[in-house]
Amino acid sequence: MLNKLNVESVDVKGKRVLVRCDFNVPLNDKQEITDDTRIVAALPTIEYLIKNGAKVILCSHMGKPKGEPKPELSLAPVAKKLSEKLGKDVIFAADDNVVGDNAKAAVAAMSDGDVVLLENTRYRKEETKNVETFSKELASLADVFVNDAFGTAHRAHCSNVGVSALVKPAVAGYLIEKEIKFLGNAVNSPERPLVAILGGSKVSTKISVIENLLKKVDKLIIGGGMAYTFFASQGKTIGNSLVEPDYIDYAKKMLDEGKDKLVLPVDTVITEKFDNDAPSKVVEDNIPDGWMGLDIGPKTIELFKSVLADAKTVVWNGPMGVFEMPNFAKGTNAILDLLVDLDATTIVGGGDSVAAVNQAGAGDKMSHVSTGGGASMEFLEGKELPGIAALDDAE
Ligand code: 3PG
Repeated sequence: MLNKLNVESVDVKGKRVLVRCDFNVPLNDKQEITDDTRIVAALPTIEYLIKNGAKVILCSHMGKPKGEPKPELSLAPVAKKLSEKLGKDVIFAADDNVVGDNAKAAVAAMSDGDVVLLENTRYRKEETKNVETFSKELASLADVFVNDAFGTAHRAHCSNVGVSALVKPAVAGYLIEKEIKFLGNAVNSPERPLVAILGGSKVSTKISVIENLLKKVDKLIIGGGMAYTFFASQGKTIGNSLVEPDYIDYAKKMLDEGKDKLVLPVDTVITEKFDNDAPSKVVEDNIPDGWMGLDIGPKTIELFKSVLADAKTVVWNGPMGVFEMPNFAKGTNAILDLLVDLDATTIVGGGDSVAAVNQAGAGDKMSHVSTGGGASMEFLEGKELPGIAALDDAE
């Protein structure tokens, strides 16, 4: 449960409502949006505000322009896409100062139900340092602040944290509510058994997630490149597989502490070359010299299947192998297929596993696919997200 005021707790009719979205979407070299998931996820809040007669002023960052205008990181393509999705004009306030004369004029000319999108907030160097001058400029445009940028909630920037202190009320949008409902319930009051599946290449980036989740889950499945550091900690040979020597002791400690919960692969698909077409074979236990593991093997898939069989809540973060190469995507796809068929709440969080789900077009078959990469990771680590903490508390 999110104990913050939400967008429905405010009378927005005729008010200037500043909405922080996460429109940090991927673009190709023609400045076309290649994945509009985050734009679609922002629509419920925007549509609610339009319907209720607000003047809707949207803002977001895009990429890392490092405090100066970079035309290739302009939000102009987002305004175009939003217009299509909303079926109405979205006025793009092109303005290198973000809240300069153009933006002020665009806001001053708004009627109830209009939508204006400001330029990339990171064109301003103050933004990522949460310097009050820029927060005040943003605040001067608004009577109400709505934060709906879950993907940016782990940052304390002007356009989320700074402005929350200056515009009252400062409330949560529907997307933030939904993310916290799914991720929060999964880790704090899950229907059990709760199983987490962690993959991806590095143990080092997942330490806090492993530690926090070990306290909460019934089982914790480890796959992907990070499994080899665990293998090494068990004294197995791992050939040329990915390993983080500095984390071998840590992996051993986790295996001791979590021995009743941790589930490791029991076989591995190995190859001599990091190449989709290189010949491969499956080994159990040791990986010979000159070979590297790139995916979990068939026995591991069966093992993980049996662990997941009676799960009622599953949180998945990180692929099981090099899923970008079709010949080493079987483990990741098998997990995906298992989750699609499972009678459980299934939550996918974190960049690469979300990419794997989207690559398979299976997003709508999961209970929830988080729009947050870093934000969902920090949430799973048990950290407070500053962008959410800064909003007004519900009574
Ligand atoms: C993301 O893509 O994870 C968010 O938009 C945050 O972006 P950032 O890592 O550049 O702050």
